[in-house]
This record gives sequence, C-alpha cells and structure tokens, in this order.
Amino acid sequence: MSSSQPLVKQVMRVKNPDHIVEEADHGGLKRSMGLFALLMFSVGSIIGTGIFVILGEAIPKAGPAVILSFVLAAIVCAFSALSYAELAGTIPVSGSSYSYAYATLGEILAWVCGWCLMLEYGVAVSAVAVGWGQYLNEFLAAFGIAIPPEFAQPPGEGGVVNIPAVFVVVACMFLLLRGASESATMNNIMVILKLGILLFFCVVAFTAFDGGNFQPFLPLGVAGIGAAAGQVFFSYIGFDAASTAGEEAKNPKRDLPIAIIGSLIIVTIMYLLVTVAVIGANGGQPSDYEGQSGEAILATIANNVTGSTWAGTLIALGAVISIFSVVLVTMYGQTRILFAMGRDGLLPKTFTKVNPRTQTPVNNTIIVTVIISILAAFIPLGQLAEATSIGTLFAFMIVNAGVISLRRSRPNMPRSFKTPLYPITPILGVVGCLYLIASLAWITWVVFFAWLALGMLIYFTYGIKRSRLARGEADDWTPDPEPPVVS
Ligand code: ALA
Repeated sequence: MSSSQPLVKQVMRVKNPDHIVEEADHGGLKRSMGLFALLMFSVGSIIGTGIFVILGEAIPKAGPAVILSFVLAAIVCAFSALSYAELAGTIPVSGSSYSYAYATLGEILAWVCGWCLMLEYGVAVSAVAVGWGQYLNEFLAAFGIAIPPEFAQPPGEGGVVNIPAVFVVVACMFLLLRGASESATMNNIMVILKLGILLFFCVVAFTAFDGGNFQPFLPLGVAGIGAAAGQVFFSYIGFDAASTAGEEAKNPKRDLPIAIIGSLIIVTIMYLLVTVAVIGANGGQPSDYEGQSGEAILATIANNVTGSTWAGTLIALGAVISIFSVVLVTMYGQTRILFAMGRDGLLPKTFTKVNPRTQTPVNNTIIVTVIISILAAFIPLGQLAEATSIGTLFAFMIVNAGVISLRRSRPNMPRSFKTPLYPITPILGVVGCLYLIASLAWITWVVFFAWLALGMLIYFTYGIKRSRLARGEADDWTPDPEPPVVS
C-alpha cells in the first residue's frame, strides 16, 4: 500500500500512540510489578561492570575530579531520565525508546533507535560479561586457581580469547532458553546483595581513608572531567530499564516515572560514596592506577587495605553473583527488543518464533548469544563500553526529541508526568548527550557511523517494505486533528 507514497512519507510513518497503548493492554503480559519491584529492577540493571571495573580506568583520566565526572554524567542522565519518565507515563508499553520513537518521530527513527539499542543492550552484555570475568578470576585466585591469561583476556590485552566472558553469556543463554527471566524476588535479592557489597567495600576502604589523596584535585585540568564523564556514563546505563517493563507494571503511569528517576538518584549517591572511598584508600592520581586497568579494582583495593585476601574474595564473590544478574537481565532485554522489532516487521520473523513449550524466542536468543559471545571473546572492555555508551547516548537523544515531538503533535494526550521547564529540559538532554559523545574516542565514532550505515542499508532493503505499517497491517496515523479537551 505505502510503496506508492513518497519516500519521506514512508519513512516518517508513525504508529498511533493510542493503538500502541491499547495493543499493550491486550498484550497478555501480566501486570505484576509494583513501584518497589520496578525501582529494584532499574537499580539491578544499572549497577554492574561500570562501578566494579571501569571506575579504575576513569580515575586516571581525571584524578580525584572524577567525582565531578560522576555528577556531570548523572546530570546528563537526569535530563534524559525526565524525558523517559514523561514518555513512559504517556505510552506505557514494553519496547522502551524504540516504541516511543515509533509513536512520535516515525519509523526510520524508531529503526535507528532499535538499532542503537542493540549497542545499549547487546554490546553492553559483552562489556558486562568481560567485567564479570575479571571478578571471577579474582575470586578463583583466592583458591590458587588461575586461568591462563591467554584464555582470560582478549587480543590486545595480552590474551587470545576471553573464555570466562563467553562462559557467562552462554550460561545465561541456557537460563533464558528455559524460560528464566528474573523473578522479582530474585532481582530484589541481587540488588540488596549488590548494594550490600558496595557498602561493605566502603566500610573497609574508609578504614584507610587519607584526605591527602584528594590533592591535587584536578591533575589533568578541566578537560579531564569531561573525558572521564564520557567513560563513567556507562555505569549509569540501565536507569531506563523500567521503561522496558511498561506492560508488566501494575500502575505504570504513576510508577514508571518514579522508578526511573528514583533509581538514578539511589545509584548516583552510591557511586559517589564508592568513588570517594576508592580515592581515599587507593589514591587519586593517575600513577596510583598504573597496571590496574580493567582489573577487579574494588577487590584489589580491599585486599590492599586489609593486608589479606578475605575482604577481596568476599567482594569478588558478591560481584560474580550480582553482575551475573545484569548479564541475564540485559540479554533478556535485547531479545525482547528484537522480538518487538520482528513483530513490527522491521526484522525477519525468525526473531519472533516462540518455542510453544518454554514460551521463549529460541532462534532470537541463540543469534543474540553467538554475536555477543564473539564480541566478549575478542574485544577489550574499554572499546565495548564506549560502543555501548555512544549507542545509548544516541538513543537518549531520540527520546528527548520524542518528548518535544509528542508535545507538539499531541498536546492534549493525557500525561501522568510532565518534564519540568519544558522545552529547556529535553533540549539540555540532547546537548548533554552530544557533549558526552564528543568526549568519546574517535574510533568509537567511526565504529558507530559504520554501524548506523549498516542499519540504514538493512532498513532500506528490508524494513521499509516489510514493516507492518508498510503492509497496511497496522494503522498509519496522522497527528492532526486532535480531539479538543473537554474540561
Ligand atoms: N550500567 C551497567 C554497568 O555498569 C551497564 O554494568
């Protein structure tokens, strides 16, 4: 039907937000998550390799001023969190930013968003899995077991293949194929464990606190703050996770905005505490972290402070268990996003085939596992994390733009939460994301643009013709006129 339309019209077609919400209401997912579960779900998705490993790579970029980098990254996230909160409260469905973009900015930007989410979720899993491997190595070392570096590091970091990282991805695949997502109870336990381990680290580290470690505060100048902010941004990724559970929330319109913003506040406080503890105990100058890049830094510091291995081993064990859950949830999220894109016809139907017995998308999960495992096996953590961050920042920009677009096209649509100081906040959200993107390595941009080009190629040869909207299987929607509000 739509192939006779002009190209611009085809790629800008939007899904009717009312229909998306209606579809979700009849989508068959059980609305079982209350506010606490949603909050824990978000916190659980956020805290992982970022604070446990990448912190050790960020401090040398900014010195003690990395504290300000965490604040800066949190502020950028906060603007986008407000936009997520507004859209999640208006269109509370499961596909997160992909669905929001489809309802606000049009199919091509929805596709770009979904394509970026493959970096935010898929590549993130690889990065988190690599961090998990570091803590596994640390834990095993306490029992005299050492995986040879050739098999525990990627090429470029002294190894050949990162087997622990592949192991955790494959283990999660088996759990996902058996139908395990994470139960709310399990998730709550993981989050409490994670927060408990980080607090335990702080207590140990504060026993060796030296205020002198914060001088000089800015050894690398103001530019260092921005550079490190781009890197620590990774540790905040996941605050939008609650928005992927829109169809399972009991009271999404009220609870999603609170969970998104609340989780960001909790995690920011925790991160600042851990960063101050790390610098206080281990020093804040780049030279204090030589040779520690990509290591299980919190466990190493705890060992140094206590002069024995028990504290580090305990932290390593806690990290191994709790980071495992991030891999599981994030992988689950990736399969679900691909499922949504397959259902809309933008990806082949194989992504939506569900095993009737286990109710899981088997082919989808296996394809995701193979790709994620290859990345985790051969690419260093720093590069994986940067690729994750640039994709996420791009998706955040689209969400901020989506708020502006929906306010203009549907000013009267009921919104349970409205971002304050509109339009300044979403505009600052876009600017903040651009600022952090600018601080990433040029090679990351090159990889990202190559990724986008591949995405465009796939869209113009496949999705543009096969999408449900293109085939007229779901209603095209024209923004105007909107029914007047009766008050
Ligand atoms: N924020 C997640 C982590 O730090 C991706 O592991």
